[in-house]
Amino acid sequence: MTTTHAFWLAGAPATGDDTFDVTNSWDGGVVGRVCVPTEEQVEQAVAAAHAVRGEFAATPAHVRAAALDHVVRRLAERSEEIARLITAENGKPITWARGEVGRAVSVFRWAAEEARRFNGGEAQRLDTDAGGTGRLALTRRFPRGTVLGIAPFNFPLNLVAHKVAPALAVGAPIIVKPAPATPLSALVLGEILAETDLPAGSWSVLPVPNDRMPALVRDERLPVISFTGSGPVGWGILDSVPRKHVTLELGGNAAAVVLADWSSEEDLEWAASRIATFANYQGGQSCISVQRVIADASVYDRLAEKVVAKVEAQVTGDPWDEATQVGPLVSEDAARRVEAWVDEAVAAGAKLLAGGTRDGATYAPTVLADLPDGVTLACEEVFGPVLSLHRVEGTDAALAAANDSKYGLQTGVFTHDLRTAFRAHAELETGGVIIGDVPSYRADQMPYGGAKESGVGREGVKYAMEDYTYERVLVLTGLAL
Ligand code: SIN
Repeated sequence: MTTTHAFWLAGAPATGDDTFDVTNSWDGGVVGRVCVPTEEQVEQAVAAAHAVRGEFAATPAHVRAAALDHVVRRLAERSEEIARLITAENGKPITWARGEVGRAVSVFRWAAEEARRFNGGEAQRLDTDAGGTGRLALTRRFPRGTVLGIAPFNFPLNLVAHKVAPALAVGAPIIVKPAPATPLSALVLGEILAETDLPAGSWSVLPVPNDRMPALVRDERLPVISFTGSGPVGWGILDSVPRKHVTLELGGNAAAVVLADWSSEEDLEWAASRIATFANYQGGQSCISVQRVIADASVYDRLAEKVVAKVEAQVTGDPWDEATQVGPLVSEDAARRVEAWVDEAVAAGAKLLAGGTRDGATYAPTVLADLPDGVTLACEEVFGPVLSLHRVEGTDAALAAANDSKYGLQTGVFTHDLRTAFRAHAELETGGVIIGDVPSYRADQMPYGGAKESGVGREGVKYAMEDYTYERVLVLTGLAL
């Protein structure tokens, strides 16, 4: 029998007038039925968040940190159940789903720790000019107001955690809207939050249909919007509310750059196996999965041979199978779009070295070479298990090729040379440069976000806490300094 899941309205379970089904893209089975909040219920959640914002901002740090510690414990205790739910709703192989739960535990643990040390305040003496004699400035950070968090389907728990945990850590109410395809793990997070004594109204989990989101985005009681998802939707949000504080974590077509000095057998084995894994993990449905491999001509042929062999060795299939590395995409429509982009590239002259086939929602891990400029795959984020190989001559050309993209989220650079590492850091137009590994490396406490069309603002627990707050200065007068 299909379970019907309540949503979370101001910290309490609620049901609406309507429901929708969540399905598994591997077997098409219904894995849960989710209640949809009515317009009135959404209004109640927003009003409750707005009303509690002052009280929540004033909550002692130990209360917020204790609530976050509770989430850490309960996520860890329920980790296998939640990993199975992620696989059910998203199609992600169970081994990757377990990894996602582990990361969400880490996000809440960091948030609990940062909550304890955040906002210690900075003192600045002002008697550096005659008019400031006896004056001291104290700067502290305060929440901007309620956060509207809009999360994507590809990490249904951890990218919700990246919105919720920093908000609770700074005392900002949050209304989080999970992706329609994958709301179930966010709703379980709601169950865990409901076990804490965070003030009613400080958080809601609302599976609002996408077509009703513009009104919520415009609501002036929600001054902060944190969105992860597609570029057109993200930039549309920013354009519709230019005076709000908007963080956009959008797409990328991340490059792994392999330079001439990365040339030993061991070097190329490592690079090829990391590239093969992280072009295809989660079916390539990560904003930092490897989409482009840019290799110096001196290592290109050896690297290409290894990459193709390792991509072909990826185990595709049933996401519940412990051996599966690459499962289905989130839907058959998604796999059909990837198929159309690869077919377009091949028809235009790209060479297919591996993959290129589709079975239902599963797209085979695919390698292309000689990708013609201008095809969709060369310009856009594929969000599927597809990589293209590019041969370049020298470091200048490699860095230029990596920058030849409208996106800039993260770039991986395989080099042993510290000076080249610093040069790459200085020259790559990207939110992060990963030396000796693929662009897909992410530790959840690091700043994470894009340059160019990959977005604005930063996530990563401490950085999101800064993003959700602003500096307010207090000037004290008549002091003996
Ligand atoms: C994303 O797809 O942007 C998130 C990647 C990650 O958290 O590893």
